[in-house]
Amino acid sequence: MELLILTALLTLASARLVNKTINRCDGVIVNGINHEKEVIKENVDKPYMMSIDYNTNVLYYTYTGHQRMTFVPAALNLKTKENYIITGIRGAFSTSVDLKSHRIYIAGVDGIYEFDNQEKIIRNLGLTNLNIWQVFAKDGLVYYTTYHDEKAFVYKNLQLTKVTGIGDTRALLLGLDKKDNIFFSNSSGLFFHPKDGNLTIFVGEYTVNAFTTDANEKLHFSTPAGIFSTEVESTGNVKIKKVAEINNIYGMAVEGDGTFIYSADNAIIRLKSTGAECSR
Ligand SMILES: *[C@@H]1O[C@H](CO)[C@@H](O)[C@H](O)[C@H]1NC(C)=O
Ligand SMILES: *[C@@H]1O[C@H](CO)[C@@H](O)[C@H](O)[C@H]1NC(C)=O
Ligand SMILES: *[C@@H]1O[C@H](CO)[C@@H](O)[C@H](O)[C@H]1NC(C)=O
Repeated sequence: MELLILTALLTLASARLVNKTINRCDGVIVNGINHEKEVIKENVDKPYMMSIDYNTNVLYYTYTGHQRMTFVPAALNLKTKENYIITGIRGAFSTSVDLKSHRIYIAGVDGIYEFDNQEKIIRNLGLTNLNIWQVFAKDGLVYYTTYHDEKAFVYKNLQLTKVTGIGDTRALLLGLDKKDNIFFSNSSGLFFHPKDGNLTIFVGEYTVNAFTTDANEKLHFSTPAGIFSTEVESTGNVKIKKVAEINNIYGMAVEGDGTFIYSADNAIIRLKSTGAECSR
């Protein structure tokens, strides 16, 4: 009798084991590791162009506002989940935080604003009065693209100039890696322009919807089909790696510890590692 029970218990245990190995890869696989989805903000319509201030752990994003008529910027505290809606910027489509200066930029239909999260005040920087699609801040410089023209500019040494390597071609989104190599996208796909070089290289037919750097200034991007990372080898070759395959994503950001956050149709989601390795 005892033996029977023991056998039954062992069978149960091994069944559980087998099930565990089957189920352990049922989440989102990020760089070969199984991840669980944690919804960190619900009921938010199509969050776009997210950025994180690593000093304060606040995520900035914009979402589609009332009756789909406008875009509204907001600040989500990643620790407390407190959500603050930033008022006073019309058609705010994009946010960016300068990793080094921690200055927070929000772009709207009439230019680029700086947001003071402590005082909760906005200030129009007066760089431009054009409709801005994206702002990307790095090392004290402010890069931005305009809509509908799709022109890329950078504010540098108190002057506005075209972005080297993009010039007069269309660019809807751009991002710079640690070494200031430029990646940009337009309706033809994703392009690369090395910092020191004259050639613009076609990388692939990616429909980029966000560029973002992590705490180590590695450049990542997302498309409606997933998250990707960029790498420029010493030979100058560009390598694109698929980090995670996720459907219908609108944008992404990376937390200070490397955790990925992405936006879905109606939520902002954190990908939490379960530690389980999964080969794809
Ligand atoms: C896995 O668990 C289910 C119940 O949840 C059980 O019916 C099934 O037999 C288990 N699978 C294996 C392979 O043991
Ligand atoms: C996108 O940029 C590339 C590289 O500069 C350029 O060749 C291409 O014509 C651009 N596409 C559009 C639609 O302007
Ligand atoms: C780029 O072009 C400039 C001017 O035409 C030239 O002086 C320079 O050597 C070129 N750089 C490279 C890396 O080819």
